[in-house]
Amino acid sequence: MNTVFEKDLESKGYIDESIDPTLDIVAEIQRLKQEKNAVILAHYYQDAEIQDIADYIGDSLGLSQQAAKTDAEVIVFAGVHFMAETAKVLSPSKKVLLPDLKAGCSLSDSCPAHLFAKFKEKHPDHIVITYVNCTAELKALSDIVCTSSNAVQIVQSLPKDQKIIFGPDRNLGAYVMKKTGRDMVLWNGACMVHEIFSLDKISDLRAQFPDAKFIAHPECEEPILQQADYVGATSGLLKYTIENEASTFIVATESGILHQMQKSSPTKTFIPAPPNNVCACNDCPHMKLNTLEKLYNCLKYELPEVDLPADIIEKARRPIERMLEISEKYGL
Ligand code: 13P
Ligand code: SF4
Repeated sequence: MNTVFEKDLESKGYIDESIDPTLDIVAEIQRLKQEKNAVILAHYYQDAEIQDIADYIGDSLGLSQQAAKTDAEVIVFAGVHFMAETAKVLSPSKKVLLPDLKAGCSLSDSCPAHLFAKFKEKHPDHIVITYVNCTAELKALSDIVCTSSNAVQIVQSLPKDQKIIFGPDRNLGAYVMKKTGRDMVLWNGACMVHEIFSLDKISDLRAQFPDAKFIAHPECEEPILQQADYVGATSGLLKYTIENEASTFIVATESGILHQMQKSSPTKTFIPAPPNNVCACNDCPHMKLNTLEKLYNCLKYELPEVDLPADIIEKARRPIERMLEISEKYGL
């Protein structure tokens, strides 16, 4: 590895070699992708320009399914660290790149594996379901992984008397409990983006746009979800806006999803639900660390790479595969 880049990576977590401003960066990314047999997987929360260059755009479940079946030798994951880790667990022989290694997740950070292990010890007769938004180390302590697209079905697939620990998202956990009528022991974690929506400001907006549908991600808090016309994962929210005949939607999730909503329904209006702070946006600061420039450098130098110890890959694999198997059974 070039020592200049090594230093850069240590301090910044990404390569910031300056790019010739006359370079057609999109064409160069396409060329490098062919040359290196790489695939670009992007989450709906990425910047529009990254979504537009991706081979596949999707929610956490769709991205895991793509990572498991791709023939590419290199996976460039335009998303956050736990997503790239999941891709590595599912495709350990492939090189997995993340444009910015510091693209983390507040929800994942809210559940350190050593504390979760102690929590688990207190409930020895419980099965452990973890939301995919957590480290591979945490997945290695789990029985089944889930995403917001399949959490309800995964809980329903277990016997009714099965005791369950669910982590790390308490809001998704509470939503699943309500939908399934099952009791679960919840880890007390949450996402910094989905926790800040303002009920008062949303009510004001709904009064202003009485025909608008209000839709929300299940990582939002219960009082917000209670007001929603539809609750679903990012893919579900997008599908709802395509299929529903309303012309205006107030959207309570990260604002990156609005790009695909607008592209799929150009005549409809999408309003980001207002947060409880002075900022008018719902951007995830982790997701937004990735840029087109970092993606280009990452593909060019095949750095930074996300790798994991072999024992973690081994232990985290089964719970993720169980999730994929149950999802397939339910046609998800
Ligand atoms: P989904 O794409 O599965 O809905 O997850 C949202 C999220 O928070 C990803 O970080
Ligand atoms: Fe994590 Fe929330 Fe950002 Fe998703 S939106 S990556 S859950 S901090």
